[in-house]
Amino acid sequence: MAEPPSNSPRRPLPDGIVPEEVVARTEGRWVMIMATMLVVMMAVIVVTGVAGALHPASNVEVIQPQTLHLGGEFVESNLGTAIEPDGSATVRLIAIQYDFVPHCALVPANTPVKFRLTSADVVHGFLLPDTNVNTMVVPGFVAEVRTSFAEPGDYVMPCHEFCGLGHHAMWTRVSVVPNDQFAAKGPLERTRCAKQ
Ligand code: CUA
Repeated sequence: MAEPPSNSPRRPLPDGIVPEEVVARTEGRWVMIMATMLVVMMAVIVVTGVAGALHPASNVEVIQPQTLHLGGEFVESNLGTAIEPDGSATVRLIAIQYDFVPHCALVPANTPVKFRLTSADVVHGFLLPDTNVNTMVVPGFVAEVRTSFAEPGDYVMPCHEFCGLGHHAMWTRVSVVPNDQFAAKGPLERTRCAKQ
């Protein structure tokens, strides 16, 4: 009987060398595990995004950060909460090292609320935990997010983008009050919360 060719796979492998079929099978399993993990992670992103109505900001609006205080939408007298003709609320805030101006936003419950923010200096973050609000506030751009609050109460509002040495202290709150309580307030009172 003829000797098998020297490169035959049937030839016993030296110690410590794993046969090719075993390597291929193990690699195949790992590819399947990785693919499953990717599918699960993508599904989590899609499901939480749809269920929580999360969506990336869809508007691109530019603004001059150096002249915010001189005129236009973000002058001091125009900051805070305003009620639109359709009954919805618009809250305009400026993020600045290391606070939001005005320091606290007052909004009515059960009302569509649109937040419009911009930064006067560096990149800040605007997050309201347990809501769909989460955006970066980039100088030169206006960030806009829409939400509504079913329950009155205080919602903490931390800056969640590292913005300098005072970043950890840059947090404030959105105070949600019942609709009638909000309606009873004067136009100036509405623009900000009472100091606490
Ligand atoms: Cu502003 Cu961190």
